[in-house]
Amino acid sequence: MTARKPYRTLSGTSRLAGVMGWPVSHSKSPRLHGYWLAKYGIDGSYMPLPVEPENFQAALISLRNLGFSGVNVTIPQKEMAMPECDELSDRARRIGAVNTVTFAKDGRLLGDNTDGFGFIENLRQEAPDIDFTFGPAVVLGAGGASRAILVALLDEGSPEIRIANRTRARAEDLVREFNDPRLTVIDWPVSPDALSDVSLLVNTTSLGMVGQPKLDIDMDGLPTSALVTDIVYAPLITGLLQQAKDRGNPIVDGLGMLLHQARPGFHRWFGIDPEVTQELRDFVLSPD
Ligand code: ATR
Repeated sequence: MTARKPYRTLSGTSRLAGVMGWPVSHSKSPRLHGYWLAKYGIDGSYMPLPVEPENFQAALISLRNLGFSGVNVTIPQKEMAMPECDELSDRARRIGAVNTVTFAKDGRLLGDNTDGFGFIENLRQEAPDIDFTFGPAVVLGAGGASRAILVALLDEGSPEIRIANRTRARAEDLVREFNDPRLTVIDWPVSPDALSDVSLLVNTTSLGMVGQPKLDIDMDGLPTSALVTDIVYAPLITGLLQQAKDRGNPIVDGLGMLLHQARPGFHRWFGIDPEVTQELRDFVLSPD
């Protein structure tokens, strides 16, 4: 009789990956990738890698030299990773930040940004009928998350995207930089008129997150057919999403964006494009 293996351990050829950031203790990525590694029975490991910003460059090169397959990079190092990469994906260059680094066999660092991909894939999974080309979108916020979402929406063929940001100049800078006639800046706070023909409303600000002020928005002008989504996922149903739901709009929460943005890295490093399921959502949300 063959003995059942009591434990799954790493082998001498395990694939290694992780998430670099400072701090990194809040990151859900180790739990998320760890779930997929177990689910697919992969000989690999995904580690939290707390790296102070001044050590970032040295740590990145060391991880490559240690034989890692790749790393995710989180705040505040997403911009710092850009100049370290030998090659950038088109979307990483346009977004201006890298969240996924793959160490190629020849030692080169390949930088990508999968945040916009995660945003789109989440909406496609949760609202399969979504047609990004159908009507104008309103995007609240002009920070890093907004940049990723704007690039993704432009690539999906959105006909018009109105950006509203507390600091208007930041939104104007974005429009100037992206130089796409489909992008415009509208007032913050958003007037009901600016919402009257909108098919997608997205919050990319931190408003509504646990510990942050609430997001005040008058949704009176918004068609009830418009999809409302939030990148904030703590709480899962933000004030914005509750307000939208109460008036009959379809909503999609932000957790799926986090889960889907992890897929391309996992695929490259561990060889499987993993599935985002309800069980995974529950697992990532459950206390350790
Ligand atoms: P991220 O990379 O997560 O997008 P960020 O670049 O700091 O983070 O951007 C945060 C976004 O939330 C910005 O659009 C910011 O507006 P400003 O550009 O005016 O700072 C927005 N934000 C944060 N706190 C806010 C608040 N109290 N009221 C309105 N907008 C806020």
